[in-house]
Amino acid sequence: MKKAFLRRISDISKVMNRAAFSDVEPKMTKYKYGSDAFMRILGSRYSCHAFSDAYVSESKLEMILEAGRLAPSAKNLQPTRIWVVRSEEALARLRAVHPCYGAPIVMIVGCRNEEAWVRESDGINAAKTDAAIVLTHLMLTATDAGLANMWIWDFNPGKIREAFPEMREHGIYGLLAIGHPADVDGAPTELHTQRKSIEEMVTML
Ligand SMILES: Cc1cc2nc3c(=O)[nH]c(=O)nc-3n(C[C@H](O)[C@H](O)[C@H](O)COP(=O)(O)O)c2cc1C
Repeated sequence: MKKAFLRRISDISKVMNRAAFSDVEPKMTKYKYGSDAFMRILGSRYSCHAFSDAYVSESKLEMILEAGRLAPSAKNLQPTRIWVVRSEEALARLRAVHPCYGAPIVMIVGCRNEEAWVRESDGINAAKTDAAIVLTHLMLTATDAGLANMWIWDFNPGKIREAFPEMREHGIYGLLAIGHPADVDGAPTELHTQRKSIEEMVTML
């Protein structure tokens, strides 16, 4: 009697489970672990070569900067600094040195090399690596916030330091242009679709 009752309860709960999930779309996860959301951010990021002057909200800017702050660094020495260029006056100074594709916000990422960890075995300084991690956090978070962006490396650090004397003691390792894409010209370029295959890139040992 007790057994039959328990079986019945078990059957009911199975049916209820099935019913509960029956109208839920099957999960479209390609990967078994992690979240599709993160892979979608990685997949949707692209280098934007033309920005509109549309406004970027303060709360998005805050979120992006917080992501930069959370970046790890060698020995946790945190040598990276971020200068946010967004006032008309500062943008004009920067654009005289590099047009930055007309972005309304440009983050200049640099480090004081002497604040970064130096590897004893070969004397290599981690500043550039630390800066690259911060920039990657900024770039992906900007994408997550629905903002177009562009990592710029082809600039003259000396000229940037001339335009902004407050950076004169820092290595300038990257600029991140952020904003909304301009119609047509702000779309991904052909290069965005070109990646090596896993077989070309990875060697399993
Ligand atoms: C470290 C780094 C520096 C880059 N510097 C420049 C640059 O100075 N000028 C430029 O046009 N693109 C630059 N890019 C963009 C790359 O050309 C671009 O990421 C690559 O072609 C792949 O295209 P996608 O970002 O649209 O996927 C840079 C990208 C990275 C990651």
